[in-house]
Amino acid sequence: MHAEPTRALHALSDISAAPPDPILGLTEAFKADPNPSKINLSVGVFQDETGRSPVLECVKQAEKRLLESESSKSYLPIAGDPVYGQQVVRLVFGESVADSKRIASIHTPGGTGALRVAGDFIRNLLGPRRVWLSDPTWPNHPGIFRAAHLVTEVYPYFEATTNSVAYESMREKLAHVPEGDVVVLHGCCHNPSGADLAQEQWSDLADTLRARSLVPLVDFAYQGFGDDLEADAAGVRTLFNAGLDMLVSSSFSKNFGLYRERVGTLSVVTESPDAAARVLSQLKAVVRTNYSNPPAHGGSIVATILSDAELTDLWKKELAVMQARIANTRKSFVEGLRKAGAKRDFSFLERQKGMFSFSGLNREQVERLRAEHSIYIVGSGRVNVAGITTANLEYLCNAIASVL
Ligand SMILES: Cc1ncc(COP(=O)(O)O)c(C=O)c1O
Repeated sequence: MHAEPTRALHALSDISAAPPDPILGLTEAFKADPNPSKINLSVGVFQDETGRSPVLECVKQAEKRLLESESSKSYLPIAGDPVYGQQVVRLVFGESVADSKRIASIHTPGGTGALRVAGDFIRNLLGPRRVWLSDPTWPNHPGIFRAAHLVTEVYPYFEATTNSVAYESMREKLAHVPEGDVVVLHGCCHNPSGADLAQEQWSDLADTLRARSLVPLVDFAYQGFGDDLEADAAGVRTLFNAGLDMLVSSSFSKNFGLYRERVGTLSVVTESPDAAARVLSQLKAVVRTNYSNPPAHGGSIVATILSDAELTDLWKKELAVMQARIANTRKSFVEGLRKAGAKRDFSFLERQKGMFSFSGLNREQVERLRAEHSIYIVGSGRVNVAGITTANLEYLCNAIASVL
């Protein structure tokens, strides 16, 4: 509908509704479903064996300390608390680069905030370069970069027939994209496929990126959910050690369970401390006109934990429990499907990393699971394995076997 110029004051009332978010829509339908056996595998948060997304004990303890020690609610600096920034750089790039002045790092509202700042920074400072996304990718990626007025393209990533990374096709594509373009990579636990690059593929990718002066932007939203904090950082560190200029967006929503606190980081790796200082000034300019400075609470929690050996130990233990639950659930899921008589090899689910996997179920099967069994899965067949519990496993596997 077009507003008439003379009705300018009413134009706001004439705006049509935005399309609903497909995943949140499923959660609404799940809540309204009266079936006591219903299962929601569509959400994007970690859930424990009882189906809850708990506050970690290390977070509770850090919050207690903050309640005692916090003396002001005045603004944080535009780039956030420098202690937080240093701790995050160590976590992502490793202890050995703790004092690297080549990395400009800012505290952002979540991983999404980091990606959007990265998008604005690329558009403003590097010009109209294309941003290449994996096919498939996290559904918010295209929208974030388009909102920053960047053109997005896709490179092949997942091969459905083998349920693994289509690395040869990926490399072939990237070897022919325009020089200087930006390539978004998932640091680990690829969302939505669960299929990650192998170590030798990261090394090979570093050469491909360098050969065409491509700029990697690593989206690192699940550090610690795949194998452990160090192993999951191997890809990022391979690109870093190869000497590439790169951007890394980190999210602490999942690994600290701080979803609603909105805590993340954008790190930009440059070739010199002088370049990093210039980049930092430009990142601050982007932030200043966007949200001005970051929210403090989530970042203070992360900084408190990472600055204290005891709390860091506790966090690592709690993170390992979450990681183990995901890995064990993958095993039980594969075993459960086999026991339920599923006539398909689902063993790939066990090899994949993180909360998400493409189950290989098609739209019709997903639809039948919802209509006949109250099992909610995204239309693409992506499942959040953390939604599976000992209590719902058998029901789930029998239902899946019945629609195959
Ligand atoms: C691949 C990927 N990137 C970024 C994010 C954003 O995380 P945050 O909640 O910290 O904004 C998510 C969250 O689901 C994600 O899956």
